[in-house]
Amino acid sequence: MFNEYQHLRIPGPTPISPEVEREMSKTILGHRSKDFSDIFKDTCEKAKGIFKTKEDVFIIAASGTGALEMAVANIVEPDDKVLVIQTGVFGERFAKINAAFRANVIVDKYELGEVANPQRIKKILSENPDIKAVFLTHCETSTTVVNPIKEIGEIVKDTPAILIVDSVSGLVGMDLNMDDWRIDIVVTASHKALGLAPGLALISVSQKAWAIIEDHKGPKFYFDLISYRKNMKNNTTPFTGPVTLVFGLSKSLDKINNEGLDNVFRRHMLIKNMLRAAVRAIGLDLFIEDDNSASATVTGIKGNFQIDVNELISVLKEDYKIIIAGGQGDLKGKIFRIGHMGYIHPLDILTTISGLEMALKQLGYPVELGAGIRAAEEVWCDEKGISK
Ligand SMILES: Cc1ncc(COP(=O)(O)O)c(C=O)c1O
Repeated sequence: MFNEYQHLRIPGPTPISPEVEREMSKTILGHRSKDFSDIFKDTCEKAKGIFKTKEDVFIIAASGTGALEMAVANIVEPDDKVLVIQTGVFGERFAKINAAFRANVIVDKYELGEVANPQRIKKILSENPDIKAVFLTHCETSTTVVNPIKEIGEIVKDTPAILIVDSVSGLVGMDLNMDDWRIDIVVTASHKALGLAPGLALISVSQKAWAIIEDHKGPKFYFDLISYRKNMKNNTTPFTGPVTLVFGLSKSLDKINNEGLDNVFRRHMLIKNMLRAAVRAIGLDLFIEDDNSASATVTGIKGNFQIDVNELISVLKEDYKIIIAGGQGDLKGKIFRIGHMGYIHPLDILTTISGLEMALKQLGYPVELGAGIRAAEEVWCDEKGISK
C-alpha cells in the first residue's frame, strides 16, 4: 500500500509539487523549436527575480557541481591566486575544483559549524592583493551554517577580486541579492529550494566578472560561458537544453512569484524556527546553536551517547517513511540533517517532528511525546497571531 509513500526530508533532492510534476510530464519539444525558445526566454527572464539581478541568468544541463566547475573554468588560469573560504564539505569542493584547474589556492579553513569571518577575509585580501577570485558557500549544507555574504561582498567589491558564491542550497530559501550585495557569480541548482528534479543548474555573472571571462585563455568547452551568452541572444543554449526541466523551472518560478519571494523566505524561516523549537523541547542539541547563523533550508542535530545517528536514520526510514540525511565528511555519524526547503508546508515539518519523537522513543531515548510538536505548534501559532 505505501510502497511510494515517503517524506523526503534530505537537503536535496527535495519534494516536487504536483503542478511542477505535471509540467515536467508535458510532451517534449525540440530544443531549437520556436515554441521551446519562447518558454526558455521567458524562464530566463523570470529567473533574474530570484537572483535579484539585472544580469542574464544562464540555464545549464548539469548538477550543482557542474555549475561550480563552470565558474572556476571560466575565471581561473593555471597559477592564478584564489581564496577559498572553507566552512565545510562544499567549500572544500570549491578548493578541489580550483586545484584541478591548477590554481594557486589559499584555503581559509574554519572549524566545522563556524561562520566565515568577514574581517579575516579582509585581512587575507589586503595581504594578497593579487587574489583573482574569492569562492564562498552561501548555505554550507554539510554544517547547516549560513555565511554572511552581504558583509563579505562589501569587502570584496573594493578589491580587484571577484566574489563567487555557491548558493545551491540557499537561493529561494534565504535572501540573496546578487546586484546589491555585489556578488559577481552566483550558482544554484534545480533540486533544492526550487523544488525540481536534479539536472539543471543556474548561473549569473556580473560585469566585473565578464571582464575577466572575456580575457580568459584557459581550456573549457561544454562550460564556456561566452558560448552560453552568444546563444542566449537567440534564446537558446549551445548544446541540447534540459527541456523538461525548463518546463518545470518555469512553473516553479511562477509558483514562487505567486506566493511572493518574501513570503517564500518567511515560510522557510517559520519552518526552521518550528523545527529548532521542537529540537530544543525534545532535549536534543542543535549543531548550530546560534539561530542567526543557522540555515533556513536544512537543520543539523547532534547525535549523542544515547542516540546512534545511523540507527535513528534507519528507523525513521523503515518505520515512519521519513528520509533524513546523516552528516558529511568529518561530521559523518556525529550529526543528522533534516532538509526543509522548496515544496514544504509548515504541517510537513510537524509530521517530521512527530516521526522523530516516535523514533527516539522507540530507540529508548527519554523523550516526552508531544513536547516537540507542542513547541513547534506554538511557533506557528505565534506567527499566525493565534493566542495560546
Ligand atoms: C552548497 C552545495 N553546493 C554544491 C552542491 C553540489 O550539488 P550537486 O550534488 O548537485 O552537484 C550541493 C549539494 O548538496 C550543495 O549543498
